[in-house]
Amino acid sequence: MEQSREVVVAAVGELAPGTTRKFLLPTAGEPTEAFIVNVDGTLHAWVNRCRHIAITMDWVEGRFLDDSGCYVVCATHGALYEPATGHCVSGPPFGRALIRVPLRMDGERVIATIPDEL
Ligand code: FES
Repeated sequence: MEQSREVVVAAVGELAPGTTRKFLLPTAGEPTEAFIVNVDGTLHAWVNRCRHIAITMDWVEGRFLDDSGCYVVCATHGALYEPATGHCVSGPPFGRALIRVPLRMDGERVIATIPDEL
């Protein structure tokens, strides 16, 4: 039987603006880490994989935003990504973008879909 490409990652209204939360996508073999971020009331989700070196980015477990709260920061070399677009605006992967995890609302649930790139 084919594994579902969707997973419930939060309840609507659960994440305050400026906060992030890690979750796992049920990909073949090992699950893939991803995270959700509330940007001014809109939720976005990204695969937790830097576009410089394919490693996780959180500098404290589950924490992704820099001190300003304006950018996702990679802990290894400090790349900065816009949390709403995923585009890298500073650092080694400049011009590249994180892999977006599509989100949809289903009643009170926030549901993520495994991106095609995985
Ligand atoms: S691994 Fe993320 S900036 Fe180098």
